[in-house]
Amino acid sequence: MKLKALKTTLSLALKKTPRTTSEFEKLPVHVAIIMDGNGRWAKKHHLNVSRGHRQGTENLREIIRHTDDLGIKALSLYAFSTENWNRSEEEVSALMQLILDFFASEIDELDAKNVRILILGDKGRLPERQREVLREAEKRTESNTGLRLNIAVNYGSRAEIVKAVREIAVTVKNGTVRPEEITEQMVSDHLYTAGQPDVDLLIRTSGEQRLSNFLLYQNAYAEFVFPEVLWPDFSVHDYDIALEAFGRRDRRFGGRKRDADSE
Ligand code: IPE
Ligand code: IPE
Ligand code: MG
Repeated sequence: MKLKALKTTLSLALKKTPRTTSEFEKLPVHVAIIMDGNGRWAKKHHLNVSRGHRQGTENLREIIRHTDDLGIKALSLYAFSTENWNRSEEEVSALMQLILDFFASEIDELDAKNVRILILGDKGRLPERQREVLREAEKRTESNTGLRLNIAVNYGSRAEIVKAVREIAVTVKNGTVRPEEITEQMVSDHLYTAGQPDVDLLIRTSGEQRLSNFLLYQNAYAEFVFPEVLWPDFSVHDYDIALEAFGRRDRRFGGRKRDADSE
């Protein structure tokens, strides 16, 4: 009996409870996550790559919940890049199936939590069923005012910028805008993330340190954190560590701190 009580006390002490807003010095407004490492996770566990991707959706619910609980305003998740079509047909179709499964199981809770879903990327190349489900999710949550949940599917940042350039070019061609009137704000307004703040914190799991064509424009002044952990193992505790690291960063945006100015 005594041993059992001791074990309970110990496990509670070691339990990594999720942090609350007041426990952070400062929090990002917009977090972006490159969910990487599903393939390596599968390999490590001698499983099929599709199983790795499935495992990679298991922690998503908790990560989204925690983001919402902390009052972070926007979360952008990289789910499928324009380059991911280069993978085998089997892997691509497993990923496409996961999109359907994710929305089928999560949409009710997300909607109930006032989350507004936006798909970043070109839905045009997706299979019809996926296109419908993604559109439905956007439509169903469009008047929600809580967390902005951006899910990048068939997304490529360069393609997004080209799309913006084309749209602006049309306004120049029809005479609504003069070339010298094109501003950075105008470019932002033509990106999928129009109206949302820039990314403050970019997390990429699995130890890779690159953007892989994710939100190039929006990440201009983001802080980067690269946890070694593979995405399926990324827990709320790991998330808190990344958020804490963000809190310690000194963001200068090219300027100088006031106290340094007077020196
Ligand atoms: C990220 O995991 C998920 C997608 C790209 C869809 P990966 O499948 O890229 O995992 P690794 O990089 O092979 O480990
Ligand atoms: C980026 O990861 C895309 C997603 C996480 C959805 P990749 O695994 O495709 O990127 P690279 O190929 O390692 O750069
Ligand atoms: Mg990868």
